[in-house]
Amino acid sequence: MKMQWSRITNRINHIFGGDVVHVRNIQLPAKHLRLCGSEFEDDEHFIDTAISEAERLTENFDFNLGSRILDVGCGPGRLAIGILNHVGEVEHYQGIDIVRKRIQWCQRYIGGRHSNFHFTHMDTHNSRYNPGGQVMGADFRFPLSDEKFDIIYLYSVFSHMISDEVQLYLREFQRLLTSSGKIFLTAFVENSVPDVSVNPDDYMRTWKGPLHCVRYETDFFAAMLGEHGFQIDYMKRDLLADGQNCLYISRSS
Ligand SMILES: C[S@@+](CC[C@H](N)C(=O)[O-])C[C@H]1O[C@@H](n2cnc3c(N)ncnc32)[C@H](O)[C@@H]1O
Repeated sequence: MKMQWSRITNRINHIFGGDVVHVRNIQLPAKHLRLCGSEFEDDEHFIDTAISEAERLTENFDFNLGSRILDVGCGPGRLAIGILNHVGEVEHYQGIDIVRKRIQWCQRYIGGRHSNFHFTHMDTHNSRYNPGGQVMGADFRFPLSDEKFDIIYLYSVFSHMISDEVQLYLREFQRLLTSSGKIFLTAFVENSVPDVSVNPDDYMRTWKGPLHCVRYETDFFAAMLGEHGFQIDYMKRDLLADGQNCLYISRSS
């Protein structure tokens, strides 16, 4: 009966353009709010990848109920949904994104029910996601106090950002990460290519629109990290990251 009811509400949402669907007793953003490619329109895929991202954190970073995490470019809350369903209500989750409607969704459907989960909108320019936003200056700061996070997570965010902006973020991560904290990010990082290429030809697929794919050369990317006191501990490609590399990063030793 429960199952039938969720099917009915999902159908109503679809017809009237609602913004939430219920699957496996989990509230998910409606398809029009989702990101990362058409495969994420599949509800089961969305939930499975949400949970596998939370598993990535428990397996690689000892992420647990006492952890504090910053999810930069959180979109419509995929990681937060994974954490809540795999780990539970952790000590502190902070999501931040430049698209207001997705942050509003997260505040309403996740933050409204889980008091340790916070979502902040930041009106920062990105020609793909927020072309009308404020261009980042040299004095850029995240709208977060000097709180410290054990993990900073960016899934498919630097893949849409130019190097000057990446550097401003890395400088901020110095401020926001604990001394033993870790960063996980996905990015297009390759050997023997130009330092930075936007929408490169003959690379994986045809890229369309502003900053669809920003690809970095491995040593160039590692040097940017190094300038801000970080190092790549290991890097690997996995199927979930849309052909991007997965980078596991810590403070330089
Ligand atoms: C491909 S989506 C990934 C969403 C989410 N991380 C996930 O895995 O489902 C890229 C996200 O990065 C956000 N974004 C783009 N530029 C950003 C910036 N300068 N700062 C923070 N978020 C940004 C976009 O609004 C979007 O939510």
